[in-house]
Amino acid sequence: MQTATFDALRTAAGAALLAEATAAYGREDGFALGTRLRRTHDPDLVAAALTQARLRARATDKFAPADAARMFFTVDGYEQATRVAVARHRAARLATALGPGAAVADLCCGVGGDLVELARAGLTVTGVDVDPLTADMATANAEALGVRAEVVCADATTVDRTAYAAVVCDPARRGGRGRVFDPDAYRPPWSFVLELLAGTACVKVAPGLPHERIPGRVEAEWVSERGEVKEAALWSGGLAGDGARVGRRATLLPSGATLTDRDDPGPVVRPLGEFLYEPDGAVIRAGLVTAAAARVGGGLIDPSIAYVTADAAVSTPFARGYLVLDTLPYDVKALRRYVRDHGIGVLTVKKRGVGVEPEKLRAAVRPRGDRTATFVVTRVAGTATVIVADPL
Ligand SMILES: C[S@@+](CC[C@H](N)C(=O)[O-])C[C@H]1O[C@@H](n2cnc3c(N)ncnc32)[C@H](O)[C@@H]1O
Repeated sequence: MQTATFDALRTAAGAALLAEATAAYGREDGFALGTRLRRTHDPDLVAAALTQARLRARATDKFAPADAARMFFTVDGYEQATRVAVARHRAARLATALGPGAAVADLCCGVGGDLVELARAGLTVTGVDVDPLTADMATANAEALGVRAEVVCADATTVDRTAYAAVVCDPARRGGRGRVFDPDAYRPPWSFVLELLAGTACVKVAPGLPHERIPGRVEAEWVSERGEVKEAALWSGGLAGDGARVGRRATLLPSGATLTDRDDPGPVVRPLGEFLYEPDGAVIRAGLVTAAAARVGGGLIDPSIAYVTADAAVSTPFARGYLVLDTLPYDVKALRRYVRDHGIGVLTVKKRGVGVEPEKLRAAVRPRGDRTATFVVTRVAGTATVIVADPL
């Protein structure tokens, strides 16, 4: 969309068209809706309104439906926006550390996913984005959601940061060919990220960021929502830690349960017990599996595999527990017999540390019965093993 088309969408007539398109989208056949709207409106504006309606519907995946229905998006802006639960967590953490009203610059604000939550958390926010349409949308989104935020269109690397208590930065991690995983390909570049982290900053990074790229004295926090890892953020200066130094942290949303390297007693490897635990993805990414093991009084089943075993059923947010029913060697014929003899028809296959394809194994053991089972294929004491387990 061109900035001029966006401006036209924001006039009274454009807003009425967009409201009509948003309300009818998904209820009325798309072709018929377009044809009907084009009878009374400019075709380019109808196309822009329908794109917004489609993106608003899609955005309910990341934003509260009432917010999504009022916001503006580019495809990239929607895809790169922080999910509301994660943005809210980050904003609350900043507001607690900095105090009410503190001035914060969001140096890559995009369409405003983080910006809006920073403002809602009571911070005084300035958003910066280098792309003019994106910056206009961030302004429009703040207005539409009734939050106060100043937005400027500028290159973040040129912004004077001295007026802010802290800066937030969510660099673009997309190139011409989609997502980029190499931090050196971030925009603004990694050198700028390091510059920010020398002060008081929170920088969002890919969850797969290699631990060795994390600068000293910076806290790295991995965040999952309902068990799925969503992102990592690096916290520096007065924002890092929580009174005491923290190097790595896993935070689970929506509960906010948090585990850090201070909770980690170091590796304990032990024989398979009565219970197996599969740590949350944020715990694994943060390298805190042994901290999760300590929470259940257990240890690792193998020094290099992220499964934990213990002798007791302990409820913890940091790992999903299973009762171990059987342990079998990894032998497809023997597994097929086991499946037949136990009348297993619905089989979940999980694997870690072995080159097994769950789909292929499931097909090969031919589950035909009416019972449900979970096979955890992994290495126990260096040997490929199938643990038959029942979720607690
Ligand atoms: C990942 S998105 C930010 C998403 C945002 N946190 C949200 O929740 O909506 C990154 C943004 O950085 C912007 N950007 C890239 N390089 C920039 C630069 N040098 N200065 C300012 N913004 C930049 C891009 O235009 C893009 O909108």
